[in-house]
Amino acid sequence: MKTQYYTASSLDGFIATEDDSLEWLFPLGDLNESSYPAFIAEVGALAMGASTYEWILRNADTVAAETGSPWPYTQPTWVFTHRNLAIPEGADVRFVQGEVGPIHEEMRAAAGGKNLWIVGGGDLAGQFHDAGLLDELIVQIGSVTLGKGKPLFPRRVLSPTLRLESVRQMGAGMVELRYGVVAREESH
Ligand SMILES: NC(=O)c1ccc[n+]([C@@H]2O[C@H](COP(=O)([O-])OP(=O)(O)OC[C@H]3O[C@@H](n4cnc5c(N)ncnc54)[C@H](OP(=O)(O)O)[C@@H]3O)[C@@H](O)[C@H]2O)c1
Repeated sequence: MKTQYYTASSLDGFIATEDDSLEWLFPLGDLNESSYPAFIAEVGALAMGASTYEWILRNADTVAAETGSPWPYTQPTWVFTHRNLAIPEGADVRFVQGEVGPIHEEMRAAAGGKNLWIVGGGDLAGQFHDAGLLDELIVQIGSVTLGKGKPLFPRRVLSPTLRLESVRQMGAGMVELRYGVVAREESH
């Protein structure tokens, strides 16, 4: 069971524009021809921040066109927020706040031995990393730059460095990089 931050990013390190648009992303590749189907098949629980959740609510039509359903996940999903937000019909969603450690425990217990997906944003993935709970970063880098926007991973990871595990080109529009997070004790 791994805890994975799987996301797409611009070449200059943004996962959304400042106003939470993903319009730049869709022309770059077809979700169904990416690693996504194999990835999601191994996911047992998800966590995301409020902006990511609200993007899905706002873009239910686009999500349904891409995935066949306005709420695209069958797995239980933990949404980090300080607010009361709507829940789409049929979605297994719970709202939580504060420390990620206890939530990670709940997610593990619910995931049936499968992986945990930290959907985003970057700071939430950083919170899991800060707690020593993140195992992998899997990033599809699109062949675009945004100049500014929501950051991929606003943390300084220097020593030990991440460990590059694979590189997979997806045409001219994207490349997927997989990194393992090296625990401090492993690095000595
Ligand atoms: N390119 C991709 O593949 C990809 C992947 C994922 C996301 N995205 C997009 O990237 C953007 C990410 O937005 P974002 O950077 O603002 O991050 P986010 O994590 O989606 O949302 C941040 C918000 O989550 C809540 N939050 C985070 N940690 C919390 C905690 N420990 N306890 C309680 N609440 C917590 C807070 O909301 P409140 O306090 O307001 O409730 C915070 O303002 C979204 O537009 C999303 O659609 C893109």
